Amino acid sequence: RNFKSRTACRNDINRLNAPFLAIYESLIPPEEEKGKQKQLMKLLEKLVSKEWPEAHLYLYGSCANSFGVSKSDVDVCMTLEDPDVNKPEVLLKLAEILESDNLQNVQALTRARVPIVKLMDPATGISCDICINNVLAVVNTKLLRDYAKIDVRLRQLVFIVKHWAKSRGVNETYQGTLSSYAYVLMCIHFLQQRQPAILPCLQGMERTYAVTVDDIECAYFDQVDELSGFGSRNRESIAQLVWAFFNYWAYCHDYANNVISIRTGSIISKRAKDWTRRVGNDRHLICIEDPFETSHDLGRVVDRNSIGVLREEFERAAEIMQHDPNPCVTLFEPY
Ligand code: GTP
Ligand code: MG
Repeated sequence: RNFKSRTACRNDINRLNAPFLAIYESLIPPEEEKGKQKQLMKLLEKLVSKEWPEAHLYLYGSCANSFGVSKSDVDVCMTLEDPDVNKPEVLLKLAEILESDNLQNVQALTRARVPIVKLMDPATGISCDICINNVLAVVNTKLLRDYAKIDVRLRQLVFIVKHWAKSRGVNETYQGTLSSYAYVLMCIHFLQQRQPAILPCLQGMERTYAVTVDDIECAYFDQVDELSGFGSRNRESIAQLVWAFFNYWAYCHDYANNVISIRTGSIISKRAKDWTRRVGNDRHLICIEDPFETSHDLGRVVDRNSIGVLREEFERAAEIMQHDPNPCVTLFEPY
C-alpha cells in the first residue's frame, strides 16, 4: 500500500460547494414525514399501553438523531420497568398484537443481536423496528442530535458520507462494512480534529446531563444552544471537508495503532484499550470507540476481506475528490 501524503486539495474545490449542498438539500426529509412518524407513534402507544400500561416508547436512530434521510426506517425502543424481562416472549406477544391491528409484514426476530419486531404501517407507508429496553441507543441518539445542533456542517457531511456509503455498498454490517452509526461517529471525530475545531468534545465538558444506563454513566454538556458559534473560526466549506474526510481515511489514519474516540475528542492507542489482537470475532481492523460503551468497537464487524473493500473505497473517494472533473456524480456511482 503506498501511503501518499497530501497537504493541499485541488484549487477549484469551492466550485464543488453548490452541487454538494444541493445533494444535501435533496436528501433532507420533507416536513410531512415527521407528522407521519408522530401518527405511527400514537398508534403504537395506544396498542402497547393496553398490554403493558407502564411501557414507554422512544424514537431512536436516524429518525431522531437528525441524520435520517428521506424515507428512512423508523427505530423505536419500548422500555419496560423489569430489567430482566423475557424479550423474546414480549416480542412475540407484541407481534401478535400488531398483527391483529392490521399492521403489515409483522415479524419477530427474537434471536438477532438486538431482538426486534419489524412492521410496516399501511396508513403511513412507514417501516419500523421495535426493540426492548435498549436505553443506551436512546441516549446515544440524543448525543448525536446534540452534536448536530452545534454546526450545520456535521449534518451536511454525514448526509454526503451516508449517501456515498449506501451508493458504494459499504453500509452493510452483515457484509462486514460499517453501520450508519459508525459513520456518524467518524464524522464527529473528524470535525473535532479540524484546526480550528468545528466541534467540541461534549463529554469532556461540564456535565449538564447525566443518566446511568446498564451501570454505564452517560454524562456530557447538553446545553448546546450556548455553543452555536463554536465552529465559526473555522471557515472550511463542505466541499473541503468532504475532500479532507476521505483523504484522512484513505491516507492519514493509522489503522495499525489508533482508535478514534469522540468521548475523549482525540485519538487513543489500540494498546491502551487492549484492542491489538483478535478476540473472538472482534478483529479491531478499524477502531471506532462507542462514546458510552467504551469496550465496544463499532469496527468489530469489519473482517480481513471487508477492511480491504473499505480502504479501497476511501482511496477511490479521495482520488475522485482530488482529480475528477465531476466528483458530485462519480463519487456516488453505484458499485
Ligand atoms: P440509517 O437507518 O441507516 O439511516 O441509520 P441509523 O442512524 O438508524 O443507524 P443504525 O441503523 O446503524 O443504528 C440505529 C441506532 O442504533 C443508532 O443511532 C444507535 O443509536 C444504535 N446503534 C447502532 N449500532 C449500535 C451499536 O453497535 N452499539 C450501540 N450501542 N448502539 C448502536
Ligand atoms: Mg435506522
